[in-house]
Amino acid sequence: MGGHKKDKGKKSAHKKHKRTTDAGDACEVTKDRVRAHFLDGNTGPWAKNLAAQDAQTARSAQSENYADLAEDAAASASDRTAAVTPSRRGPDYSVPSSIDIVADPVLHALSTRRSISKVDPETPNDSDLLEIIRSISSVADHKSLRPWRFLIIRGHDRHRLGDALDEAAGVVRKPGETNTKPLRAELLLALVSSPVTHDKVPEWEQHATAAGAGHLLELALWQAGWGVMWRSGTLTNTEPVRRLHRLADHELLMGWFYIGAVSERYRQRLTTSTRPLPKPEQFLDTL
Ligand SMILES: Cc1cc2nc3c(=O)[nH]c(=O)nc-3n(C[C@H](O)[C@H](O)[C@H](O)COP(=O)(O)O)c2cc1C
Repeated sequence: MGGHKKDKGKKSAHKKHKRTTDAGDACEVTKDRVRAHFLDGNTGPWAKNLAAQDAQTARSAQSENYADLAEDAAASASDRTAAVTPSRRGPDYSVPSSIDIVADPVLHALSTRRSISKVDPETPNDSDLLEIIRSISSVADHKSLRPWRFLIIRGHDRHRLGDALDEAAGVVRKPGETNTKPLRAELLLALVSSPVTHDKVPEWEQHATAAGAGHLLELALWQAGWGVMWRSGTLTNTEPVRRLHRLADHELLMGWFYIGAVSERYRQRLTTSTRPLPKPEQFLDTL
């Protein structure tokens, strides 16, 4: 009896293991399909729905005994994820990656980020901004020189920026008229690169760190649900604009981040729109 029990236990353990393996396989297949759609440009959560539709199509094809059709569906999905044929020289892509940019929330946010050119009036408050800055202060920074800062520009300060831009461009407006460019968002953050003299860290490295802070800011805001667009232009480092931002001679204005809410309409559009990522091979090479 004990033996019987033991056998039964073994059997159910086996069954359980089989179920887990089957579930694991199904999960792998779904992941592959999501990934295939993602690489086709379906870079949002909707990619999961498309993958589910694929799975459903494959299942019904199988149940109707069109086994070959199901194979085709699965094959076309995995074709799209096929590894890039390695060139004679250059990177070796023959070993598949274990990194999943669809499943990993951080990598997913990185790869789906978009600039939002027209934002709604709601903005993060200054305490939110402090947390965002806290999160991006991990930016790579040689010798921790912290060569960057942001300036908050809200309300009337945006008109002051418009006036400085006008002065730089030699634009004279009629009384009551104003430069509306800085009014495209309720909140702007100006990024200042502020390098120091250092015998081990050249100036360009410090500008690179400041630019990194800018990119991280965009990502952090995106991940926190806010819309942002980085803007600059030829007037950015002109004297009137630099004066307004109280820049020292060695400092550089890296532009402004226009920040606000992502409109409901745009959110809806995001759920159906596609934007294929550029082919990553163009950014990778060997010596
Ligand atoms: C330093 C910097 C300055 C930029 N200045 C402008 C600008 O003045 N006007 C503009 O339309 N886009 C500007 N862009 C580009 C946009 O911020 C944005 O990246 C571009 O429209 C592509 O959209 P995406 O970020 O969704 O790929 C700038 C980008 C960077 C990094």
